[in-house]
Order: sequence, then C-alpha cells, then structure tokens
Amino acid sequence: MRPITPLGILAEKLDRLLSLAQDINIDRSFLTELESATALAKGLEPYVESCTTADSEPLQELVNRTRSEDWQAHFSQGETTKPLIPEMLSGQVEGQFLKMLLYALKAKRVLEIGMFTGYSALAMAEALPEDGVVITCEIDPFAAQFAQSSFSRSMHGKKIDVRVAPALQTLEQLAAEKQTFDFIFIDADKGGYKDYYSLILDRGLLAPGGMIAVDNSLYEGQAYLPEEQRGENGRAIAAFNQMVKEDDRVVQVLVPLRDGVTLIRRV
Ligand SMILES: C[S@@+](CC[C@H](N)C(=O)[O-])C[C@H]1O[C@@H](n2cnc3c(N)ncnc32)[C@H](O)[C@@H]1O
Repeated sequence: MRPITPLGILAEKLDRLLSLAQDINIDRSFLTELESATALAKGLEPYVESCTTADSEPLQELVNRTRSEDWQAHFSQGETTKPLIPEMLSGQVEGQFLKMLLYALKAKRVLEIGMFTGYSALAMAEALPEDGVVITCEIDPFAAQFAQSSFSRSMHGKKIDVRVAPALQTLEQLAAEKQTFDFIFIDADKGGYKDYYSLILDRGLLAPGGMIAVDNSLYEGQAYLPEEQRGENGRAIAAFNQMVKEDDRVVQVLVPLRDGVTLIRRV
C-alpha cells in the first residue's frame, strides 16, 4: 500500500536515497548516518502498532475484507461514485486512539462524517455503552452496504446508524432536529471540512464539553510544505487548519498521529 502519512512518506524517501547512495561511491560515514536516519524513520510506525492493543476480530476481518476488495474495478464498473482506496481506512492505532478519547469523555453519542467501509465507526461503537450511538454519514451507497455487512457481524454493530447522503444534508437535518453529540469525527472530503466545522459550531451539534476530532490534518505533510508542493486536498487542509487557529471559540491540538488528528473543544 502507498504510504499516506508524512512519516511513512519520509521513510520511503530515505529508503530510496539509501539505495541510491549505496550504488555510488560515497563516504562511509555519510552512508552510516543515512542508514541510521532511515532506520529511525522506518521503525516508528511499526513499533507504535506493535505496542498498541490489537484490533478486535470483527475489526480485523473488516480490514482484511477492505484490503482484498478490488476498489478500482468497482469504480470502473460504476458501482462506486468515486475511486475509493483501502488507504482511506484509519486503522489500528488511530482506532485505539479514538476509543481512548471516547472512554475518557464517557461519550454516548458520536457523529462521524465519512465512514468508508466502517472501520472507525465500528471501533468507536466498541467503546460506547450499550445505549450509545454512532450516527455516521457516507455518500457512497456501495461503501455503505459494504460497511453494513461488517457491522452485522459484530455485537456492537447495532449501535451504528448509517445515513447515506451528502454529509452536509445529514448535518442540516440533525441540527434541525436539535440533536447533539459528545464526540464528532470529521474524516470525509477534505474540501468540505470548513463547512462541516462551521455547521457543527454554528448550529450547536457539539454537546457542552464535547470534542471534535479531525482526521488527516497534516495531509501527507502538505499542510506545512510549500504551496507549490500542495495538491487540492493539501490546500484545503492548510486553509482549514488556519481557520481553526483563528477561531477564538475553540482550543485545539494537532496530534501528529498517523496523518494528523486535530482535537478541538469549545471554550
Ligand atoms: C477517508 S474515508 C473515511 C474513512 C473512515 N472514517 C475510516 O476510518 O475507515 C472518507 C469517506 O468519506 C466519504 N465522503 C466523501 N465525501 C462525502 C460527502 N460529501 N458526504 C458524505 N461522505 C463523503 C467517501 O465516500 C469516503 O468513504
């Protein structure tokens, strides 16, 4: 799988540099330094994974099913609305991180924006009490159906309520119903983040004492790389991060976990 975290991309680049350096006549001490830098970068993510609680069986099965699916073929055959890739799945370390936050907050009501095959939705459902609920927004009907079949294999699946529609539409509806959430996870189209965030704060979707977690807030490092090295998503994330920084209604911390997770609370 293609690395999508700044650290994964850095490790791949260092590995490539090391191969190039080994092929040319280069000073031994330079090579030793490069080998040590490469080992430092390459070892971190696998080590963090190995020291983090493993996925439950249903989550592991969901990961395996997602990775073995031919998503390119589904898109070519018009079954998905856009190209979906297994790298979208947040995975074990982020999943455990989200679960820890929910336990700490004693959260009962969770809203997710961007579900894909349901990894984070199911991970979060596992951390909720019996009467807890995850309302999750997904625009792609194929992904939603795929996720539902995984949810039905877990005793926690019944806590998940999937809304298949553009997320803004679902958020509008939830706000009109005066629903509130203890925890909101934003992980959909990067160009939509500003609107999701504004609607959540302006229309009272976040419960008092609640927390927002925003995924991919480093976006492959493009959030801080020079403008010319940013793609459309990188630009959207940089603009979103700036907006949050300037919003004095909130306090926030950007945690450099995986591709960046920003935690936000209303003051
Ligand atoms: C990064 S993936 C979500 C990954 C998931 N949270 C996980 O951890 O496994 C983003 C998902 O957002 C969905 N999405 C994109 N635009 C959307 C929109 N406007 N409304 C709802 N879902 C959207 C995509 O179809 C995709 O499945």
